[in-house]
Amino acid sequence: MDVQNRVAIVTGGAQGIGLAIATLLAQRGAKVALTDVNKDKAVAEAEKLKAQGYEAMGGYCDVSKVESIKESFKEVADTFGGIDILVNNAGILFSSPVEEITEKEWDLVMSIDLKGCFFCMQQALPYLKGREHPRIISISSVAGKMGSYASGMAYVAAKGGILSLTYGMSRRLAPYKITVNAVCPGTIETDIIRQWTPEKIQELTANIPLGTLGKAEDIAQAVAFLAADENDFITGEAISVNGGMYCG
Ligand SMILES: NC(=O)c1ccc[n+]([C@@H]2O[C@H](COP(=O)([O-])OP(=O)(O)OC[C@H]3O[C@@H](n4cnc5c(N)ncnc54)[C@H](O)[C@@H]3O)[C@@H](O)[C@H]2O)c1
Repeated sequence: MDVQNRVAIVTGGAQGIGLAIATLLAQRGAKVALTDVNKDKAVAEAEKLKAQGYEAMGGYCDVSKVESIKESFKEVADTFGGIDILVNNAGILFSSPVEEITEKEWDLVMSIDLKGCFFCMQQALPYLKGREHPRIISISSVAGKMGSYASGMAYVAAKGGILSLTYGMSRRLAPYKITVNAVCPGTIETDIIRQWTPEKIQELTANIPLGTLGKAEDIAQAVAFLAADENDFITGEAISVNGGMYCG
């Protein structure tokens, strides 16, 4: 599965699933840009990859701000000579009960998880057009497919929106041979779920037929598969990586 010399941007790449994706793509020969609101961590993790002999850079990007996306993508393209692969990974999670969701929480989740995803796609377009194997891969969630057991409704709606964007954009961008796909993680052991109590996590694990939480690396494998040069004919697809938590 080849991504040799491709330039990949991973939003929210400083930690967790984003970092695992950037690491695997780098190990497979891509030049990777880890972008994040936490610039210091993104830069530090990129430096670690460089120390291992990979091509990497870290930078600032707040995906909820179009200007920030623009500046970030330009910086990456100037540094690495273009952009081939966009991985929309940045996201936040709130798990408030329906009765307690505030307008502020709703708007914040939407602006990062859904609006950010669309505007990253839009702003990547001029760079992706004309590349050899251009790719957009967005991290949705099992929550977007089946409503989730524990996540808040803003998150569920945003992740469902990412699926709709994936289907719509795959059609809009097909004339440019840009493939647009999503990966839907189940419950994965990262910081984002540390807001849940051990009891809650145990309860969630009980809903996973394979019997364990997933690892960030499990998601990276699916992303690297979709990113590979060989997979020019997969588009408009949403791959579940969830241990059997939800099928369909
Ligand atoms: N961990 C899970 O169980 C799980 C399940 C389904 C989907 N996901 C999705 O996977 C993605 C990565 O999640 P994770 O588990 O690695 O979480 P995480 O909290 O460990 O990492 C998220 C990263 O996104 C960054 N970020 C937050 N707001 C941002 C913004 N405005 N602009 C740019 N970067 C921003 C954070 O700084 C952090 O580095 C998210 O989209 C999340 O919804 C996670």
